[in-house]
Amino acid sequence: MEEKIRALRERMEERIGQISSKENLAAFWQDFLGKKGSIAELMKGLGAVSKEDRPAMGKVINDFKVQVEAQYKALSEKMEQMELAARNRQEAVDITLPAKKRELGSMHPLTLVKNEIINVFAGMGFAVFEGPEIEDDAHNFTRLNVPKDHPSRDMQDTFYLDSEYLLRTQTSGGQIRVMDSQKPPIKVLVPGRVFRSDSDATHSPMFHQMEGLVVDKGITLCDLQGMLDKFVQQLFDASVRTRLRPSYFPFTEPSVEVDVSCFECAGKGCSLCKHTGWIEVLGGGVVHPKVLENCGIDSREYSGIAFGIGIERITMLKYGINNIGLLFENDLRFLKQF
Ligand code: DAH
Repeated sequence: MEEKIRALRERMEERIGQISSKENLAAFWQDFLGKKGSIAELMKGLGAVSKEDRPAMGKVINDFKVQVEAQYKALSEKMEQMELAARNRQEAVDITLPAKKRELGSMHPLTLVKNEIINVFAGMGFAVFEGPEIEDDAHNFTRLNVPKDHPSRDMQDTFYLDSEYLLRTQTSGGQIRVMDSQKPPIKVLVPGRVFRSDSDATHSPMFHQMEGLVVDKGITLCDLQGMLDKFVQQLFDASVRTRLRPSYFPFTEPSVEVDVSCFECAGKGCSLCKHTGWIEVLGGGVVHPKVLENCGIDSREYSGIAFGIGIERITMLKYGINNIGLLFENDLRFLKQF
């Protein structure tokens, strides 16, 4: 019996040394500690041992069993630790690596300026209305007091779609749509894209305008200048002033061109204002009575003022952009500056 135990111990030590996987370890447990394993076998053999020797022999077997269990436990703990370490190595994250940047988009400068203009006028009680980009001749021209064959049609190079429809050349047609659907008092802004066959450093075949229209009792040119003063002061600088110059638009009488005192040189003269001290920013005037009448508004009771702002022009002035193409090329190096 003792001889058997000695041989078994030797075998056990040899096996332990060979274990390299969880499967090996499980097989080891089965072979030595399992119900039908070698130690259970030894226990069974106790029956054949003499009565006097049995307790001592039982203790030897038991000690051996405790020893095998301890070996098994130590090895299984070691393997578990190794497994964990391997997993940690595999899943390790190098927190010193630079993070992947998620780039955030930003507003296009034209959108920024459009929103800024809307904000200023919304503060004066203006609502926003949007009309269609494909417009009919009546809204874009005729009802704005530009009859067919009128020379002022040549002021704008129109993209005609057929004899009736065209790509709107101005947001002014929005005035007609608003007055058709609302009764005075009216105070609206009409932002939108407009189209003209024109292209150079300061003109693009597609650009953006913001129309303004106020119709109520007793509205005069003074109201226009007062509103525009507030507008340019918020947009450019609190110190700028406006200047009205006589002009001509078929849908306003009188018509004016609005200049703002140069916000770059405070009127002293610089390259931005071409050494005049003034910069032209928009057109406007008192709504022609015929336009009001064309929309069923009694021009003896009501009067109106209107203005049209070129959003590209304002954006280029405000940010010192010298080529309109930059606004449409979508070059990130340009756009990221806003
Ligand atoms: N529609 C004009 C243009 O595109 C701008 C304009 C001038 C709009 C005078 C107006 C206005 O409402 O009163 O050149």
